[in-house]
Amino acid sequence: MRHTHHKLVVMSFLTTVVIAVASGKAKAFHQGGAGECEGCHTMHNSSEGMPVTPNSPAGSVGTYLLKGSDASSVCLGCHQKSGDPGPTSFHVSTADTDMPAGSPPRQLTPGGDFGWLNKTYTWIPTLGASPLTSPGDKHGHNLVAQDYGYFPDSYKTTSPGGFYPAANMGCTSCHDPHGRYRRFADGSIAKDGKPIKESGSLAGGQEPDTQQSVGVYRLLGGVGYKPGSLGGGFAFIYNPPAAVAPDTYNRSESLTQTRVAYGSGMSDWCRNCHANIHKDSGPTQFKHPADSNAGQLRRSNISAYYDKYVKDGDLTGIESNAYLSLVPFELGIANYATLKSIVTTTPTLGPSTTSDSPAVMCLSCHRAHASGWDDSMRWNNKTTKIVHNGKYSQESDPFQPFGQGRNTLEAQKAYYDIPATFFAGEQNPLCYKCHSSGTK
Ligand code: HEC
Ligand code: HEC
Ligand code: HEC
Ligand code: HEC
Ligand code: HEC
Ligand code: HEC
Repeated sequence: MRHTHHKLVVMSFLTTVVIAVASGKAKAFHQGGAGECEGCHTMHNSSEGMPVTPNSPAGSVGTYLLKGSDASSVCLGCHQKSGDPGPTSFHVSTADTDMPAGSPPRQLTPGGDFGWLNKTYTWIPTLGASPLTSPGDKHGHNLVAQDYGYFPDSYKTTSPGGFYPAANMGCTSCHDPHGRYRRFADGSIAKDGKPIKESGSLAGGQEPDTQQSVGVYRLLGGVGYKPGSLGGGFAFIYNPPAAVAPDTYNRSESLTQTRVAYGSGMSDWCRNCHANIHKDSGPTQFKHPADSNAGQLRRSNISAYYDKYVKDGDLTGIESNAYLSLVPFELGIANYATLKSIVTTTPTLGPSTTSDSPAVMCLSCHRAHASGWDDSMRWNNKTTKIVHNGKYSQESDPFQPFGQGRNTLEAQKAYYDIPATFFAGEQNPLCYKCHSSGTK
């Protein structure tokens, strides 16, 4: 019964998306929209006589005829590969077997490697103190992907500042698996309309024209989006942000940084699930401006400080060379020609002190997927020094108030291979990139 029912739905759905797919290029999988159905769906849970879904026998079908026990397991079937030395293009997770104790996750995408969720660190801060811990679950968005060993958050049941259920968190909470949201030539975004020609995320990609659209940034869900399997009132009210990533976005930053040109709208997008975070009440809650209104960097000359700040004690920086990928900002624009030219020709450009509205936003401090630090932070904000004695880690010391249980390899990877020598020998957390006018 169930099988037949689903087949019918698939057929009718196919007619609406097939046009979009037909005009795309062959090289990529999603092509900014719905990829080949067979990449994610199977009609009988059987391929060459073997069950595709490890947790159900061949012949029986999983939910939505998916090639995995749940939606995120389907995604990880391609987005994680065991044995991958990394960093590799679109891979966003490292297999457990590739990161035994002492070895960090390997992918260095702007969103971050979900493998950090499986890394728990413990250390003793001072003589006689009890051990402290940084649990894996606190390193980012926990997924439900049971074929790959990812489970719901054990500390939070809903999104802080909102009410999205943690038990339903997965890739498709944020990304539309069918990539329906698209950007048109006039900059507007909708769920249907002119067919999608390719991904709209990359600097080298095409722009929409009068006949065709491109996919929104990273296939993210827009207004009205929620997975069909999730009941209740969780549909998004904000569209995806304007942003452009470089064509090669998963790479070591040991020599040069990876610049995503965040344009505008990221904080609103996160507020689809975190409406009131850093905004309202709670006496102990950290409140910080985080958008193009209250968070403008030109307020209190913060743009100028960002541009001057190289590291603690060194304020000799200049705007053209000021960008730090560990503290990105939003440019305050949605013009794709400008965003693309920043990615390709002026990737180290800092915030303007005279024009546009550059702003602090959620991803100035957090990574969208996961990181090596608590609260999915881009740097360790739970220590008083991210570098001590010229080093990220004090791995051989019995007491580790600063490095906090991460060895050199792990800490350096969590900083995307940027060497500790890039910073001051005693370096504060990176709030100072914007607040160097502060208490020093
Ligand atoms: C059959 C393999 C395969 C599966 C299954 C798969 N992906 Fe992908 N994904 C790719 C490849 C290849 C790329 C890079 C090229 C491209 O964008 O198509 C990619 C790219 C992406 C991107 C970046 C796209 C852009 O336009 O910037 C996102 C986001 C993404 N995948 C999410 C998902 C999610 C969510 C799922 C599960 C619902 C999923 N993928 C399932 C192969 C796959
Ligand atoms: C909480 C929302 C959220 C969840 C959950 C999520 N993503 Fe993402 N993803 C994003 C955002 C936002 C970006 C853009 C990050 C940036 O540019 O800084 C992104 C970026 C990506 C990219 C481009 C590379 C990168 O990391 O920047 C891929 C591929 C991708 N996601 C796949 C996945 C897959 C596969 C899953 C599940 C295993 C997943 N995402 C879960 C929000 C999410
Ligand atoms: C689809 C809903 C959804 C969206 C969109 C979303 N989040 Fe979340 N977020 C959650 C849920 C649910 C939790 C709690 C469960 C967890 O941590 O896995 C959470 C937890 C977090 C945490 C705490 C992580 C931890 O390890 O304690 C941070 C930080 C966060 N989100 C930041 C963001 C940022 C930044 C964005 C935008 C890029 C974003 N979220 C978008 C649902 C969402
Ligand atoms: C990247 C993976 C991916 C691809 C490619 C994909 N689907 Fe899906 N599909 C999913 C996931 C995940 C769900 C479950 C969504 C949920 O939880 O509501 C789904 C659900 C569905 C449903 C149930 C209704 C709904 O929209 O939730 C239909 C029908 C469907 N897919 C048809 C298709 C067709 C037709 C194609 C090819 C044009 C296709 N899918 C390609 C991942 C994919
Ligand atoms: C200036 C840096 C900064 C910005 C900008 C920022 N955050 Fe945070 N966020 C933090 C820090 C630091 C924490 C750690 C918790 C604390 O100190 O209260 C945190 C904690 C969180 C948590 C976990 C709260 C909990 O109860 O565990 C969520 C969720 C979150 N942030 C989401 C967001 C979202 C969504 C945005 C954008 C609207 C955002 N943050 C903007 C720095 C920032
Ligand atoms: C990307 C730049 C940026 C970063 C990084 C940043 N801030 Fe801010 N911060 C701002 C801006 C912009 C304002 C608003 C200034 C104004 O209105 O005059 C602000 C305001 C503040 C305020 C005053 C808040 C109020 O309501 O008046 C505090 C306190 C603060 N930041 C602390 C922090 C801490 C702690 C961190 C690190 C966790 C941090 N900031 C990281 C840009 C930043």
